[in-house]
Amino acid sequence: MKKVQFTETVLRDANQSLMATRLPYADFEAILPKMDEAGYYSVECWGGATFDSCLRYLGEDPWERLRKIRERMPNTRLQMLLRGQNLLGYKHYHDDVVEKFVELSIKNGIDVIRIFDALNDFRNLETALAATKKYATDRTIASGCISYTQSPVHTVDKYVEMCKKLVEMGFDTLCLKDMAGTMSPYEAEGLIKGIKDAVGDIPLILHTHCTTGMAYMTLTKAIESGVDVIDTATSCFSNGTSQAATETLFYALQQYGIETDLNEKVINEVNDYFKPIKQKYIDKGTINPKSMGTDSQALVYKVPGGMLSNMIANLKDMNAMDKFDEALLEIPAVRKDMGYPPLVTPLSQMVGNQAVTNVLVGERYKNISNEVKNYFKGEYGISPAPVDAALEEKILGVGGKPIDCRIEDSKRTGEDFVKAKEALGELAETEEDIMSYICFPAQAEAFLKKRKEDREKVVKYTITEA
Ligand code: CO
Repeated sequence: MKKVQFTETVLRDANQSLMATRLPYADFEAILPKMDEAGYYSVECWGGATFDSCLRYLGEDPWERLRKIRERMPNTRLQMLLRGQNLLGYKHYHDDVVEKFVELSIKNGIDVIRIFDALNDFRNLETALAATKKYATDRTIASGCISYTQSPVHTVDKYVEMCKKLVEMGFDTLCLKDMAGTMSPYEAEGLIKGIKDAVGDIPLILHTHCTTGMAYMTLTKAIESGVDVIDTATSCFSNGTSQAATETLFYALQQYGIETDLNEKVINEVNDYFKPIKQKYIDKGTINPKSMGTDSQALVYKVPGGMLSNMIANLKDMNAMDKFDEALLEIPAVRKDMGYPPLVTPLSQMVGNQAVTNVLVGERYKNISNEVKNYFKGEYGISPAPVDAALEEKILGVGGKPIDCRIEDSKRTGEDFVKAKEALGELAETEEDIMSYICFPAQAEAFLKKRKEDREKVVKYTITEA
């Protein structure tokens, strides 16, 4: 019997997409043992924006959150999303930092590390992959992930080549990550058949979003075409900018005669548990009704929904909404000049801001952001297609060429660890504390200070009482 398995995303991507990753651990602790019985391929519960959000907004230690989830879900693979050399932040970290981060992630309970690079420059995956292999337990899975986008250079052949490369590098599974939800059923069919033909048995995963309304059709076609695992969210946390609904796809697949490993009773209980939690955050305004609807604009403009709302907010701030149409047209033009990068963090912000700047200044590239300059210098990796030659010359000078090595090369110095220890002093109790500081210095320091203060409060209280 044919089999398709499910990765449940409610704890990470659904939480991130619908409510800006503001779901505290206390809200889902009680359901974890039940989720452990559901029969998921994995539960995506960590990485992405959860780490930053724990420290910055929720007053939680992300490592402690992971350990608690691990304790309550001993039987399910726990999965994280890792942005290659960027880890969970927005810059390139040194190789020794990347290696230690992966080591600690596995040590604290992660089984599946899904590793991607915004530009699909696979040099940026090498260190994280090597570390995953080095610290692997018998349940560790290194998943090589491709940022999916559409452009004249992003053909099926190109994606097949990328997959072959990921297999060669030693990844255990492959994932197509359609962060904007713009992959059509037709495209899914071509891609998945092409990839399956080329790389054979290695498990293939499809990650998409409902943003444009195509996810169910795309997933159905992907399943017909041979995909092995799909990412879904428990139904009350599904749809809109999130994933397709777990129970709905389970129901449909049963009629297909496809095995899923899911326990119907349990997945329904999981949904029942999360319903009042969702309602609480709708009432609080944390979940914006807009994020729950369908927005087909991304199909027209080829711009992800989040990027569009960002642009509108920027233009409104500057009282320049009359430039909206012009700015919208400028986005694909800037993207072409930059060699068609996938519009995912941080590229989506860079392309969007440059397009708005070009339009507001009234002259293209009169002002160029430092990030875009660094992109042309090659600091983010290699662009998918050649960049515009005139613009490259304007930024790098006549005959200037981008660097052709990874910027963090030869920088395995240990300096980040020394600096973090010095800065934190007694606030740092563990390697995990040090790592939190290296990734998000200001947020980690504030969190660790508060942790110390809170503990002292408890101690004083106990003494007085005695
Ligand atoms: Co996603």
